[in-house]
Amino acid sequence: MRAVDLIRIKREGGKLSSEEIEFLIDGYVAGRIPDYQVAAWLMAVYYKGMNAAELATLTQSMMNSGDVYDLADIPGVKADKHSTGGVGDKVSLMLAPLAAACGAYVPMISGRGLGHTGGTLDKLEAIPGFSTNLSAARFKRQLKKVGLAMGGQTEKFVPADRKLYSLRDVTCTVESIPLISASIMSKKLAEGCDVLVLDVKTGSGAFMRKQADAETLARTMVAIGRKMGRKVSAMITDMSQPLGCAVGNANEVVESIEVLKGGGPADLVAVTRALTARMLVLGKLAKNDKDAGAQMDKAIASGAALEKFREMVETQGGDARCVDHPEKILPQAKKKKVITAPRPGYLTEFNTLNVGLGACVMGAGRAVVADKIDPGVGLWVRARVGDKITKGQPIYEVYYNDAKRFASAKTLLEDSFKISSKRARAPRLIRKSEV
Ligand code: URA
Repeated sequence: MRAVDLIRIKREGGKLSSEEIEFLIDGYVAGRIPDYQVAAWLMAVYYKGMNAAELATLTQSMMNSGDVYDLADIPGVKADKHSTGGVGDKVSLMLAPLAAACGAYVPMISGRGLGHTGGTLDKLEAIPGFSTNLSAARFKRQLKKVGLAMGGQTEKFVPADRKLYSLRDVTCTVESIPLISASIMSKKLAEGCDVLVLDVKTGSGAFMRKQADAETLARTMVAIGRKMGRKVSAMITDMSQPLGCAVGNANEVVESIEVLKGGGPADLVAVTRALTARMLVLGKLAKNDKDAGAQMDKAIASGAALEKFREMVETQGGDARCVDHPEKILPQAKKKKVITAPRPGYLTEFNTLNVGLGACVMGAGRAVVADKIDPGVGLWVRARVGDKITKGQPIYEVYYNDAKRFASAKTLLEDSFKISSKRARAPRLIRKSEV
């Protein structure tokens, strides 16, 4: 078998057999098939798609490319959540400790920034010393002791997704239903959770801009998970504007800590609570949403959720003083500029993709695999869709280190919101509560 022939078959819209898909994935992980051929194959899949049988084989080959965790010796419900990605989407940082404080075990395997969207691993690594590279033994030990562990793909754990994820990030092959489904579900099936809640984003900052596509993606992933015997539920949530105010890795940790202390922006709090409640109800840790809400209120008010976050940071080698003094411990870019409204009116729309790209070009994301993240850069969004705006009102506070990069970001950010004389309605946060 030759990779070049399999690229041609897919380029022409043909179907690949299980053996052919396994040949590609195994060969890529083992280093026998180079990045450039896999990049070409990914682009062919992007354009031509995959049928259900191809997708099932791709997901399973990726899942089986490394260890598959067996968490049966951990008593209790192993529940997790995964988002398809957005701008300012820091939900995992709050949801995991909150769910753990309510009695769930959260074995969370996440990703890095992808395309214009931020990634949980990059956000957590903004905390000095924090390690997301956990061995299987360390991951399981921590999960048992703390109730949550937050790690990433490694050379031994879903290495296929580790390599494909980085390659897709820099080859514009992210926005594909089969590639996203296989990437997410291979990690989630390999980590061993029994309950999985999928947060499928839609809107200008999501990979699925149209709600119908988001629903197709949700149904595709739910079907894969259920076939593998997991309890899976998906929610479609809004990504037509950044979620919360903070965008950029350290900023997003700061805002997550605010939420765990009982504050934070209303939209971020609402989405986090809805997803956490779904995990608790699906895992039978709460009778219904009301019961889940009461448990979450208690976990926040008592400080139990914040303490879970602190314990997780400490156990993963991070500087836990960031919980009490985020401004002193977390990196902060040196320079600040404010982007303001050029005219009065109502904020009617964000081009959220541009907001994410703006953060990326300043260093919050990668353009090539070897790029280093600058954890302190980013922005705070100071207006929401539906707000009445005065001329000169701040829309973004931007934090950056490099003037040239800021100049590129400024162009994107200035072109990322619309002000009109007619008021627009604030978007519905939960677009569809169950798929
Ligand atoms: N999250 C993932 O893990 N993979 C994707 O492809 C998109 C979002």
